[in-house]
Amino acid sequence: MKIQSGISLKPYNTFGIAARAERFAILRSEEDLRTILRANIAPLHLLGGGSNVLLTKDLPGLVLRNELKGIHVEKETETEVIISAGAGELWHELVLWSLAHNFGGLENLSLIPGTVGAAPIQNIGAYGAELKDVFEKLEACDLERGERRIFRAEDCRFGYRNSIFKNELKGRCLITRVWLRLSKSPTLNLSYRILADSLRNKGITDPGVREVSETVIAIRQSKLPDPARIGNAGSFFKNPEVPVQLYQSLKENYPDLPAFPLPGNDGQVKLAAAWLIEKAGWKGRRIGDAGVHEKQALVLVNYGNASGIDILNLAREIQHDILEKFAIDLQPEVNIW
Ligand code: EPU
Repeated sequence: MKIQSGISLKPYNTFGIAARAERFAILRSEEDLRTILRANIAPLHLLGGGSNVLLTKDLPGLVLRNELKGIHVEKETETEVIISAGAGELWHELVLWSLAHNFGGLENLSLIPGTVGAAPIQNIGAYGAELKDVFEKLEACDLERGERRIFRAEDCRFGYRNSIFKNELKGRCLITRVWLRLSKSPTLNLSYRILADSLRNKGITDPGVREVSETVIAIRQSKLPDPARIGNAGSFFKNPEVPVQLYQSLKENYPDLPAFPLPGNDGQVKLAAAWLIEKAGWKGRRIGDAGVHEKQALVLVNYGNASGIDILNLAREIQHDILEKFAIDLQPEVNIW
């Protein structure tokens, strides 16, 4: 394995930010992992597909890009299959592999950028499904103790775009492999209105996993910018969870304010951050090369040469404005380095 110096990270983050790594290496094997542990370079920044990170400075130490590969069927019954995938596999490649085998469970999560290993860190979710719904276990290397650990679902403490790997164990665990439980006779999840409506509009009355996946892909492509063409990291902020009282008082001024119930938590509702940002007048706005996407207000974009600080400044202005207008403190979903 080669450890390079002074590498531009522009090709390695979907925002297309031109920050530099003091050292940079690609992890492709167990042997590479041993080399890295022996080299003991600090600080260590773990990078998957670079699709959920905003680089605001050059990074000291070592940036390690995970490209551990391999997809296997581990166990099979009449109704279910346990599969495992190397943490450096691209998430959508895994989704396509599951569809080719007619395994259900990943179809709603089609076309999410990033790697398999990053998926549990933020418990990726879309169109009514979350990674935790199919998660079995993962293997990680505890970088402090230098040993392997297995994490079951309950150990991961999954929440909305959240897990133990974003909190207590932040930066400490290098995820090497993820196991998922997929179905051979899938029950489709069509709870997300836009998804059900799109299928109906296409005249599909009895969809299979492939039709659902194709529909999700079409919805995503119609709203979300392709990072290969315009830099972005998907939703920049989380949808805020607020007390019902705040929602009710806002609703007096904004009768069309969308809200989503939070099952098991009667005191709180989830609001659409994109709606708040749009209502505050930010949708499609641009400051230099940093902007708010014109089709989805939750996505910040780099029109070419924005720096991480330019994007961060735009994000802060939006946060400040939303706090003033709606008394809501928007939190970034993207990791800020
Ligand atoms: N809306 C607006 N203006 C917009 C866009 C949306 O007012 O510009 C309102 C609409 O009322 C719409 C509601 O916001 O009904 C929700 O919009 P959408 O379905 O596009 O989803 P989202 O809440 O903005 C979340 C995820 C996405 C995921 C979609 C679909 C978060 C932070 N984001 O976005 O995930 O693809 O739902 O399930 O939860 C990501 O995490 O990077 C990501 C793209």
